[in-house]
Amino acid sequence: MKNNNYLYEAVKTLKEDRVIGIPTDTVYGLAGNAFSENAVKEIFRIKNRPLYNPLIVHTSSLDRVYEFVKSFPEELKKIAKFFWPGALTILLEKKNIPDIVTAGSKLVGVRVPKKKITQILLSMLDFPLAAPSANKFNYISPTTALHVKKSLEEVPFVLNGGRCDIGLESTIISFNGEKILIHRLGAITMEMVQASTEIKVEISANDLKNILPGSLKKHYSPNKKMLICENLEEEIKKHANKNFGVLSFYKFYDVKNIKVLSHSKNLEEAGKNLYFFLRELDEMDIEIILAENVPDYGLGVVINDKIKRAATS
Ligand code: TXA
Ligand code: MG
Repeated sequence: MKNNNYLYEAVKTLKEDRVIGIPTDTVYGLAGNAFSENAVKEIFRIKNRPLYNPLIVHTSSLDRVYEFVKSFPEELKKIAKFFWPGALTILLEKKNIPDIVTAGSKLVGVRVPKKKITQILLSMLDFPLAAPSANKFNYISPTTALHVKKSLEEVPFVLNGGRCDIGLESTIISFNGEKILIHRLGAITMEMVQASTEIKVEISANDLKNILPGSLKKHYSPNKKMLICENLEEEIKKHANKNFGVLSFYKFYDVKNIKVLSHSKNLEEAGKNLYFFLRELDEMDIEIILAENVPDYGLGVVINDKIKRAATS
């Protein structure tokens, strides 16, 4: 019953062309009517996001994608059926979507998220939702409703869906007629995309990379300085006189401020905890975060990529 009230408030706010925080399976989004230029402008303003940076559009099912894309190539539809609802964003030729959403591009990023409450919300609306991650530009993506409220105080309403199950952003792909290109590596690994299609999958060497934040060197960064350590134990000893925090993969060290990504060395668990712990460490009374990489395979590749960006200042 309570949830219903929240949903009605969410629908009402969105219909008034205002924006709200929404949970998804990956991270929380700052959502507004993707057909409304005013709502989308509000997203850019609140997030302090540069206008050259396009937004992903979310809808409730594969069939509804046709409300705002011209065509859905069979090659991509097959992959969509494999992963949707889920952490995959697909670039498709847009229609009915204002240029501001895509930063002038003919292609729109489309995703059907998996979170139940958001699925219901999307099916109650007769428009799709444009939603970037609900953090200030360049800060760590939010994985709880509280993160959204803390980062973006102006947001009038956040639909609370609990903690995000995945905790890392979606993977973004396109098809150039020959190959499937990965534009941002996220929760779905390159191997997983490749397993869903016979077409060759490649990481995009697109020039655009330089202006996509998911691909910028510095991104998802905590405010605290962060050091990636080859040998965490050694660095902990070296920093004994300093005020530090530790982000360890699976080992516990007997220090004051430590977060362990996964005691059982589980990469999914580590992925879910990464942004959550980075925020916690960032709020601690410490000068530096000593971190280490996780094993460099499967989702580990993605996690290490995010750790590297977080440590780049
Ligand atoms: O998991 C996610 O993808 C989350 C949830 C909320 O869906 N969203 C998210 O959005 O991470 P954002 O805006 O923080 O990152 C989206 C990335 C950006 O790097 C943006 O440049 C790229 O997707 N992107 C979006 N639309 C695009 C387009 N039409 N062409 C190329 N890149 C696009
Ligand atoms: Mg983002």
